Amino acid sequence: MNTPPSPANDNGLSSEQKARIDQAAQIIIAGGTVAFPTETVYGLGADASNTDAVQEIFRIKQRPIHHPLIVHIGTHSELDFWAQDIPKPARQLAQHCWPGPLTLILQRSRYVSDAVTGGQNTVGLRMPVHPVAQALLSAIGPHKALAAPSANRFGRISPTTAAHVQQELGSDVDFILDGGPCEIGLESTIVSFQDRIPHIHRPGGVSIATIESVLGAAVVHNQDHVASLRTPGSLPAHYAPQTPLSIFPTPEIWQQAFLLAEQNQRILVLTWSDSAKPPTRNPMIEHFAMPMEPKLYGKHLYAKLHQFDQAGFDYLLLESPPNHPHWLAIKDRLQRASYRSVDNPQS
Ligand code: TXA
Ligand code: MG
Repeated sequence: MNTPPSPANDNGLSSEQKARIDQAAQIIIAGGTVAFPTETVYGLGADASNTDAVQEIFRIKQRPIHHPLIVHIGTHSELDFWAQDIPKPARQLAQHCWPGPLTLILQRSRYVSDAVTGGQNTVGLRMPVHPVAQALLSAIGPHKALAAPSANRFGRISPTTAAHVQQELGSDVDFILDGGPCEIGLESTIVSFQDRIPHIHRPGGVSIATIESVLGAAVVHNQDHVASLRTPGSLPAHYAPQTPLSIFPTPEIWQQAFLLAEQNQRILVLTWSDSAKPPTRNPMIEHFAMPMEPKLYGKHLYAKLHQFDQAGFDYLLLESPPNHPHWLAIKDRLQRASYRSVDNPQS
């Protein structure tokens, strides 16, 4: 006989999920680490006010200690607990885009430890919208927050399912909360406020058009500015699979694939457009058609990279995404993932 589904509570969570979230909250409060789902990617979380627990995240992630973590908060009122001297545009963005895939880099308050910020005087704050993340934050209580980077080893592809976290971190993390596949699949948009002026620090889940419409003004998105800030996500070899990945314009991609296939290389070609259909079959080349719609492409990108990275290909060749603002975050991640190229496979 089938067991009847357990009743859902206010968040639409089952009582089993609620019990697992309570268990996860106890682990956080006791100083442990928990991988949890957000709408962007899975995070590797610890109590932001517990220095030892935060240091454990850096150890698990193998991340240099001076690279700051995002602090995830559960309610709007926590903004003024963790940050101070907040510029007006930051408040407007928090009001409009939280809970959601937006991180604000702000002056930190005295409650934020050096362990979280890598000694910087700013803190990255974000209020996730995923019901499991919200329930976990609510369960750990007021003035508690989750310091959490993406739940992958440093430089690797971010996880968008609990299985990705399990594969990559295994028993290094104390507990993994499964909240299904992430809806957005790419990390949050990061906005910083040097001289109180908003700058796009990393394109992501909230579009620049949304940010500009909330603020009623254009925002700076300058790669030089991004490069000058201390942030690991801005290093070239980031979000990268182990298999070398290269990006080619639509007309060249098959030519490149056939050239490499002639050298006995196993190739995966990942396209998005109709015009990049495979010309003829070649036993050394496999083809996968990604969605043409950028939201769907973004949602599935990391899962596909995880999958194809394990499939024994010598090279992954990806069709360049269109030069359209809706593809900005995808383009940014692909550029970083393509650090090891066909021309320079060792780098
Ligand atoms: O969607 C996301 O943002 C996910 C989920 C888990 O929230 N998190 C995420 O964290 O992508 P992480 O650590 O993989 O990337 C966060 C980026 C890093 O590049 C980090 O350096 C930057 O945010 N960051 C955090 N605090 C900062 C600060 N105070 N100043 C400058 N950059 C900061
Ligand atoms: Mg990351």
